[in-house]
Amino acid sequence: MNIAVIGCGTMGLGIAQHFAHYEHFVKIFDQSDQAVQNARVKLKASLDSLVSKGSLIDQHAQELLQRLSWVNQLDALSDCDLVIEAIIENKEIKQALFSSLSEIVNSECILASNTSSISITALAASVRQPERFLGVHFFNPVHAMKLVEIIPAMQTDPMIVTQCKTILESTQKIAVVAKDCPGFIVNRIARPYYSESIRIIEEGIARIEEIDEIMRTVGGFRMGPFELMDFIGHDVNYSVTEIVWREFFFEDRFKPSLTQKKLVEAGYLGRKTGRGFYTYPYEKPQIIVAAEKAQSIFRRVICMLINEAYDALYLSLGSEQDLELAMTKGVNYPKGLLSWGKELGLASVKQTLDQLYEFYGEDRYRCSPGIRKQLELL
Ligand SMILES: NC(=O)c1ccc[n+]([C@@H]2O[C@H](COP(=O)([O-])OP(=O)(O)OC[C@H]3O[C@@H](n4cnc5c(N)ncnc54)[C@H](O)[C@@H]3O)[C@@H](O)[C@H]2O)c1
Repeated sequence: MNIAVIGCGTMGLGIAQHFAHYEHFVKIFDQSDQAVQNARVKLKASLDSLVSKGSLIDQHAQELLQRLSWVNQLDALSDCDLVIEAIIENKEIKQALFSSLSEIVNSECILASNTSSISITALAASVRQPERFLGVHFFNPVHAMKLVEIIPAMQTDPMIVTQCKTILESTQKIAVVAKDCPGFIVNRIARPYYSESIRIIEEGIARIEEIDEIMRTVGGFRMGPFELMDFIGHDVNYSVTEIVWREFFFEDRFKPSLTQKKLVEAGYLGRKTGRGFYTYPYEKPQIIVAAEKAQSIFRRVICMLINEAYDALYLSLGSEQDLELAMTKGVNYPKGLLSWGKELGLASVKQTLDQLYEFYGEDRYRCSPGIRKQLELL
């Protein structure tokens, strides 16, 4: 299959390498010569490292390189069957690109965006024959994260969704179908992991090290919320939160936190700048948290996550199976949140949420109709 990737930054290069690994021919286009130079160096380093670790034989690395070609004109993509865009996260720039592109490629070519937060329907509107347009949202790093969210626009032909799913699954990706709503599945459901944890430190209930320890040891998460935010980068994480909140017409549940905004303003973006919530290099201290406090903090965060997952189910943002896969394969949660809710008991989850709602009087703690429905309260 002839695939094109537009933009060869973090995501574009990963996506191009992934498809070339699975024997597709991939053309790469980026508007910046410097970005192309950097991507070539990064690709070579990545392949060299795989070969030296014994994960890839040298001959396969050479063959993979031969399947990749670097083009400097959009016109060179005219014979492609699938084009995946991974350029700057800006609606107008992406729309302009897709508008030009849909005049260049043939009418059968599938056009896809890797956007994290822009409406797929709005992007499809810029395309001639928008029924062949959809979102394909890969996770970073592309080679390590199995999940891809497929997001049909309001205009997308269901056949294109099926075709795309088949292509992705043939390259060992796990593809889930998500509704075109802000944050899709993963970035929407995961919001409370960050926002509720920040709220707890803002209220002085616990320290960041304590919450990280609790979520790792009691919850079984690979990374606590603060170490994870530092890893993702506060510029990226804050921007996703802000966009999701804005796109939901300023819904209280998705409100960003001032603490994270200040980190961005200070340039304390996390690991990549040497300072975020933690200062790096960071040695994890030995943390002991009283069992009762640990349970109460874990419950507060996990119940907020479960609430969001049941809301997503109630609003049919994805099938039950896809919602579970999305959280376990897209952000490595130890369990699917729907089954985690059942394990804790949905009546008890509702009780925790109701207590929070009663105490704070804020909409963010309202129990989802998704949970109420399961409890046959609706
Ligand atoms: N980084 C992540 O963790 C992540 C995860 C999932 C999705 N995304 C999404 O993927 C997309 C790319 O993100 P990234 O982190 O790889 O960005 P990046 O900044 O690393 O790379 C973007 C590349 O696009 C190129 N570019 C910009 N405008 C262009 C244009 N008009 N035509 C051609 N090339 C152009 C730039 O030169 C750059 O090389 C964004 O939409 C982002 O929201 C990012």
